[in-house]
Amino acid sequence: MKHSKPILICFLLAITFGSFKCKHKADLNTNNSDPNQPSNNSTCDPDTIYFQNDVLPLLVSNCATSNCHDQQSAQDDVVLIDYLSVMETGKIKAGDPSDSELYEVIMESDPEDIMPPPPLSQLNDDQKLIIKNWIEQGAKNNSCIENCDTNNVTFSGTIWPMMQTNCSGCHTNVNAGGGIIIEDYEDVVASASNGSLMGVITHSTSFSPMPKNGTKFSDCKIRQIEKWIENGTPNN
Ligand code: HEC
Repeated sequence: MKHSKPILICFLLAITFGSFKCKHKADLNTNNSDPNQPSNNSTCDPDTIYFQNDVLPLLVSNCATSNCHDQQSAQDDVVLIDYLSVMETGKIKAGDPSDSELYEVIMESDPEDIMPPPPLSQLNDDQKLIIKNWIEQGAKNNSCIENCDTNNVTFSGTIWPMMQTNCSGCHTNVNAGGGIIIEDYEDVVASASNGSLMGVITHSTSFSPMPKNGTKFSDCKIRQIEKWIENGTPNN
C-alpha cells in the first residue's frame, strides 16, 4: 500500500500525456561516463561562472583557432576545445588563478608571452574576469540553463554579447576566418543581410557551421537572432 500514491500519480500523468514513463529523476543522471559532459544543468545563478556557457566559447573563439590550440595545431601541446583537453594541459590549478598558467598568460604584459599573441586581440577585462572567477570557483565542468527571452531582443543586450563570446575572436581584422569580420554592429548587419548569419548558426547545408569547433547555438538563441533580423536589425 506504501506505493499506491506514486503509482496513482504516474497513472494519472500517463493518462494525461500518453507516453509518460514512470521514471525516477535520478535515473536520468546515471551512465554519465563521458567526462566532457557537465555535471549539473540547473538554471544559471548570476554569481556562478559556468564552464560550458561562459568559459568554453571564449577559449574556442580566442584560442582554439587554426595554427593555435585547435586539435590539429596543438601549439605547445595545448589543445583548448573541451573540458578534458583544457584540464589536461596541466595549466589550471582549481581554486588558484595566480598559480594557473592559463590565467597568467592572458594577464601577461610582456608581448612575447601574452596570449593570444599580438597582433591577435587580447581578451577584454570582462572575459579575463570570467576565466579568473571560474578557476577561483573550482574550475568545474558545469553548465546551466540560460534564461533565454525571445521577446525583448536588443543588439547591445542580446546579439552583441553572443557574438563577442562565441564569434568575434575568430573574425577580427588580423584573423578573419573565411574573410569575415565581426567586430561591430555594421559587421553583424552585413552577415545578417546576406543570409550568411542565419545560414551558419542553423548549420544550413550551403554554409560552414558556426561557431567553428564549438557547440551549436540553442534553438532559443537562434530564434533571438532570427527575431532581431525580422525586426530590421535595430541598433538598440
Ligand atoms: C574557431 C574559430 C571560429 C569561430 C569560433 C567562429 N568562426 Fe566563423 N569562420 C571561421 C573560419 C575559419 C571560417 C572559414 C570557413 C571554414 O573554415 O569553415 C569561418 C566562416 C564564417 C562565415 C562564412 C561562412 C560561409 O559559409 O559563407 C560566417 C558568416 C561566419 N564564419 C560567422 C561566424 C559566427 C556568426 C560565429 C559565432 C556564432 C563564428 N563564425 C564563429 C572561424 C570561426
